[in-house]
Amino acid sequence: MTSQTADGRQLHGPGLTDVRMMKVVHDNFRRELGLSPAAIRGTVAGDKRRTRQVAEHVGLFLALLHHHHTIEDDLLWAALLERVPQELAPLVHVMESQHETVAGLLEQSNAALDTWRTTASSRDGEALAQVLTELCTALVEHLQAEETHLLPLMAQHITVAEWAEFTAQGMSSIPRRKMSLGFGMMLYEGDPEVIGLELANLPAPVRRLLPPLGRRSFRRYARRIHGTGTPMRSTDLAVPAANHVTDQGVSS
Ligand SMILES: [Fe+2]
Repeated sequence: MTSQTADGRQLHGPGLTDVRMMKVVHDNFRRELGLSPAAIRGTVAGDKRRTRQVAEHVGLFLALLHHHHTIEDDLLWAALLERVPQELAPLVHVMESQHETVAGLLEQSNAALDTWRTTASSRDGEALAQVLTELCTALVEHLQAEETHLLPLMAQHITVAEWAEFTAQGMSSIPRRKMSLGFGMMLYEGDPEVIGLELANLPAPVRRLLPPLGRRSFRRYARRIHGTGTPMRSTDLAVPAANHVTDQGVSS
């Protein structure tokens, strides 16, 4: 569950801003980027159509991650630095250097992705899979640190209105035609209570329709990209993702 951090600090409750949605979003990055090397390695060399399909998926998540970090820096990190500089002092160096590492690997991943999308060769696919694996290692470390050290401070010092702006800007990065898929992804692993709070903000007909539509969209999408409608969850991704798709490719 996402009510508190591992060391027992609350992420919602009286007097706090409910920041639990951050963990839901992070788990999507952990899962989808963590499973991407396997999808790439499972693409048969020269299969341009399949390469495009997987490349689009990887490109979407690289773009979403870049956007996530940008709005975090602009809307949350800057405000926290101003409000609780002393609490952040021991963390500033590590958080900023983690962001820098992730940003560098994101850039390398995008370059490797462009190359693979063009050539569809197994050599370029392997180069992309390797840089994505490095990105995931750095990212998982960073997300863990953010959840442990920053989320409790955000719950205390970021206002409800600021948080709403952050989540609204986060949602705006999901292409409109992928909205039900995006919601289905959140539903797949997200804390049902947290998802319920997000749903409560929507008009009644959307509130009723979105969960079944979202689940169906995600199942279909996951079958296409990962070869199963129930891909490995973020919490189980310690096992190398490449072990879970054969080199025969996954069905589309
Ligand atoms: Fe985050």
